[in-house]
Amino acid sequence: MPKEDPAGPEFWEKRYRERFTPWDAGAVPAEVRALVASLPPRQRVLIPGCGSAYEARAFAEAGHDVVAIDFSDAALVAARAVLGEWRTVLRCADFFADDLGAPFDLVYERAFLCALPRRRWTAYAERVAAELGAGGRLVGFFFWSEGERGPPFGLKTGELEALFAGRFARVADAPAQASIAVFAGKERWQEWVRSP
Ligand SMILES: C[S@@+](CC[C@H](N)C(=O)[O-])C[C@H]1O[C@@H](n2cnc3c(N)ncnc32)[C@H](O)[C@@H]1O
Repeated sequence: MPKEDPAGPEFWEKRYRERFTPWDAGAVPAEVRALVASLPPRQRVLIPGCGSAYEARAFAEAGHDVVAIDFSDAALVAARAVLGEWRTVLRCADFFADDLGAPFDLVYERAFLCALPRRRWTAYAERVAAELGAGGRLVGFFFWSEGERGPPFGLKTGELEALFAGRFARVADAPAQASIAVFAGKERWQEWVRSP
């Protein structure tokens, strides 16, 4: 694959069009099924960089108010096929530039932070905090790796804590139950509550 900038939509557009999507799990993770079953009714859920959006469907089917965004049209084509009647939850939007409809109760993370070049990580933390209301939660999968090249760009030890310091407090942390090959052994499920 040529080296375009993963901060822009062209990088992702090309990969979805060529069906080169090694990050695509093709299913809803067990952790998400358990989370969906545990939530109070009608939570407002934001899914940035939703890709094929399997999880968006799981949240929507359970009655939650979902906004699933991606800035790649080809990703959204894939997501529409997965979502069927729930496709109205999709929006073509740039996480950093567009009004997404804050405040949300929950932001779901999977393979979005690690898709962003490191130079965007502080802006990611600021934007997630801005999208959440008081007591809101950032929940999902985070990827650690000592490698420098990406995507996926891996977190180093202590990096996530430094990034979220003063913005979020971690309330849950466990190894991912069933990672796909690219993330195997390097992925954890975590829940972070937005600080007041
Ligand atoms: C590695 S893929 C992960 C997709 C999905 N979360 C999953 O788990 O399969 C990263 C996704 O983030 C999207 N993306 C990257 N930067 C974005 C931005 N600034 N705004 C919206 N979407 C973005 C890409 O188009 C791509 O679909």
